[in-house]
Amino acid sequence: MKKVFIYPKFERFWHWTQATLIMFLALTGFEVHGSISVFGFEQAVRFHRISSYALLLLIAFAIFWHITTGEWRNYIPTTKKIKDQIKYYTTGIFKGEKHPTDKNELSKLNPLQKIVYFGFKVVLIPLVVVTGILYMNYKSIDENNIIVISEIPLDILAILHTFGAFLLISFLIVHVYMTTTGETPTSNIKAMITGYEEIEEEIDKQNKSENEK
Ligand code: HEM
Repeated sequence: MKKVFIYPKFERFWHWTQATLIMFLALTGFEVHGSISVFGFEQAVRFHRISSYALLLLIAFAIFWHITTGEWRNYIPTTKKIKDQIKYYTTGIFKGEKHPTDKNELSKLNPLQKIVYFGFKVVLIPLVVVTGILYMNYKSIDENNIIVISEIPLDILAILHTFGAFLLISFLIVHVYMTTTGETPTSNIKAMITGYEEIEEEIDKQNKSENEK
């Protein structure tokens, strides 16, 4: 086995902070929605607002990091090996077969992850963030009579925002399950904590020669 550096410091910080904020936003958001009772409505509204500012700030830094480091290239969707990947997750994984794609610092994501994470970044997060910002500024924008916003009724915004929240939670559940499907059940989580993942030396050599081609 060989230790390979996969996740730099900022990526780990961004990942765990985003996960924490999304879980906290879900907790406070569903209290605002009326599904649960933890902090009390007023406090939940306040916490939801404060943590949404933190998420917006984090997203701004993450966009900057993805662009300046070229990491955004990891998320370009591809159909290469996608059938093998689906076959692996639906049958191969239960028979102890080998992963059809391997990780290294130049290619961290398998083809299914590329598509799902691309959708997460380009559709799901923007849906929740944009509806959330419109929701937050609804009254002030209404008072100023800005027609574009006034044309979207508040209940539609709330429904879209809540729909996005449900999708985010579904993503989270599947995502946590998927993290257990690495070399060992905890190897992917450990890699996101330490930055390093242990992979077989032979696989690492193959990856390097594939990347050089
Ligand atoms: C930048 C991101 C976000 C912003 C700006 C935002 C903003 C808002 C606002 C303004 C409200 C109305 C209550 C209030 O005045 O505070 C709200 C409600 C809500 N938020 Fe968010 N939010 C964001 C992210 C999230 C996330 C990530 C989740 C869940 C994973 C979430 C789940 C909810 C839910 C379930 C409600 C209740 C909707 C209703 O029934 O009216 N929000 N959000």
